[in-house]
Amino acid sequence: MAESMRGMKRSHRCTEVTRADIGQTVTVMGWVQKRRNLGNLIFIDLRDRSGLLQIVFDSADVGDAGMEKAASLRSEYVIAVSGIVEKRGGAVNENLATGELEIQAKELRILSEAQTPPFPIEENIQTRDELRLKYRYLDLRRPNLQRNLMLRSHVATEVRKFMAQEGFLEIETPVLVKSTPEGARDYLVPSRIHPGSFYALPQSPQLFKQLLMCSGYDRYFQIAKCFRDEDLRADRQPEFTQIDMELSFVDIDDVIDVNERLLAHIFKEAIGVEVPLPIPRMTWQEAMDRYGSDKPDTRFGMELHDVSEIVKDCGFGVFTGALAAGGSVRGINAKGQGGMPRKKIDALVEFAKGYGAKGLAYLCVNPDGSYKSSFAKFLTEEELHALVEAMEGEPGDLLLFAADRTKLVWEVLGALRLEIAKNLGLLKKDEYKFLWITEFPLFEWSDEQNRLVAMHHPFTMPMEEDLDRLDTDPASVRAKAYDITLNGNEIGGGSVRIFQDDIQEKMFEILGFTKEEAQERFGFLLDAFKYGVPPHAGLAYGLDRLIMLMAQEDSIREVIAFPKVKDASCLMSGAPDVVDEKQLEELSIAVRAEQEEA
Ligand code: AMO
Ligand code: AMP
Repeated sequence: MAESMRGMKRSHRCTEVTRADIGQTVTVMGWVQKRRNLGNLIFIDLRDRSGLLQIVFDSADVGDAGMEKAASLRSEYVIAVSGIVEKRGGAVNENLATGELEIQAKELRILSEAQTPPFPIEENIQTRDELRLKYRYLDLRRPNLQRNLMLRSHVATEVRKFMAQEGFLEIETPVLVKSTPEGARDYLVPSRIHPGSFYALPQSPQLFKQLLMCSGYDRYFQIAKCFRDEDLRADRQPEFTQIDMELSFVDIDDVIDVNERLLAHIFKEAIGVEVPLPIPRMTWQEAMDRYGSDKPDTRFGMELHDVSEIVKDCGFGVFTGALAAGGSVRGINAKGQGGMPRKKIDALVEFAKGYGAKGLAYLCVNPDGSYKSSFAKFLTEEELHALVEAMEGEPGDLLLFAADRTKLVWEVLGALRLEIAKNLGLLKKDEYKFLWITEFPLFEWSDEQNRLVAMHHPFTMPMEEDLDRLDTDPASVRAKAYDITLNGNEIGGGSVRIFQDDIQEKMFEILGFTKEEAQERFGFLLDAFKYGVPPHAGLAYGLDRLIMLMAQEDSIREVIAFPKVKDASCLMSGAPDVVDEKQLEELSIAVRAEQEEA
């Protein structure tokens, strides 16, 4: 049965034992990875978070009783072993950090026995995600996840070091708050003391960090939990973590400067990657025109071309119809893919339709210069020639066109470009392409709400150049907002804030808030501004996304210790769950159960 550690003290983690320790007695503790029994010798691979170490039990050293005990060890037993560090007798294992060493065991204690785990505790297992998440505590023993969480911890440490050096103060903001207008749905927490009233969990510390600037803290940062009741995706969790910051007396370039150095610092320290500075910048308009996305993946080209002018008078109704309706015709050139089989092209058409496209027109430039196309017959020779030339098409290329509302065309081609790059294996995970996106539109139209909504948030400053259009043409006003993107992911975003009453009032007016509503929701911020507010700006990173990319993973679930699944539940603990009637009563809550008739 379980033995005590009494009298034994761990001296090293498994891979902390080095050649310098040869001949010394050490004590290691951990989990049994593997046991091999050779009769008078028993080998154990011992595992802890540092890695593996070989232990050898020799009957000459530990006697029959010791051998019997060693032979009883099974995978995942927790043991303590004292013994002498030796150079390995047999083959050196190049795969282990301690591959040339082993411990000649003298004493073994079994601290805990273990049932057979439901999946092997190993690198790169093929186990279903559901099973992994149900037994997350076992999944977390695997080296992949241990590496990821150690990386995450390392990055957090480096962030704190860097921010402290730069004069930022780490200040905590509340988690039970009044709802902040970040655009997503809030998680609500009922108040017991105020029946019928609710706290919201913060979507970000936005208002509080602005208040801290009003209070003179100058440079704030926090590694903050944020909560958003959104539909989950590979890069979205209902609770996630931001590296959040706000600075006073600064403009865009100051925020960008400190953040570029922060990124360079953590990439260098945590994964040894040099980030060339300055990071390139691109306006939102240019990003949309060239990549069809506000978070372009610039690890590869395949840029969009606007061919509206060329096809505006052609005989292809799909093109001219879209143009007549105020849309555009744009295309991408999949270099060298002209020989793509029809089936694969059809799959791309279906992919585009998945994004709402009505179709996808294609044109293959054959090696002999002739064309194979779904629409060539509607165009004259000259039009085709001009089109291919505008697309920089050469023999062997595949040209793909979408015609529709420009927003949809961007979305479809932006996604298609990524899909083709993925299929062609153009996306290298160890290549890091950062890009700032600037000059976002201040507003975007919400079909759902039938009004303009803030593209970033209502406290974002319009570009000074565009201020005079706030009244006349608000949709054309650009914002002093910026996103930092990495390999096609938005890893962070922020803005210069409005600190002038009149502009803030105008913002609320355009967003459709009455004076009373604005006062009701953000009165405490607006009031604070009346007592002296410094110009300020800030930014927040999605820490989970950042670590996901640094760890070269495909989902933020792989870098979060206890993540939730698509329906926002935790498969391990069973949250969310029903609660006692008594708890509900205390909260003055009655649940309206929609009961099916039996
Ligand atoms: P924003 O809403 O852009 O800005 O959020 C900042 C960053 O947080 C990450 N992120 C998420 N990560 C995982 N799961 C989610 N559900 C999720 N939602 C967002 C993204 C994003 O870039 N207060 C502002 C920042 C500011 O203006 O200073 C804010 O929250 O990587
Ligand atoms: P149709 O005339 O509908 O048979 O379409 C002719 C070709 O144009 C097909 O290859 C369609 O996939 C393509 N197509 C249809 N609608 C669009 C569109 N909105 N944009 C680009 N191509 C389209």
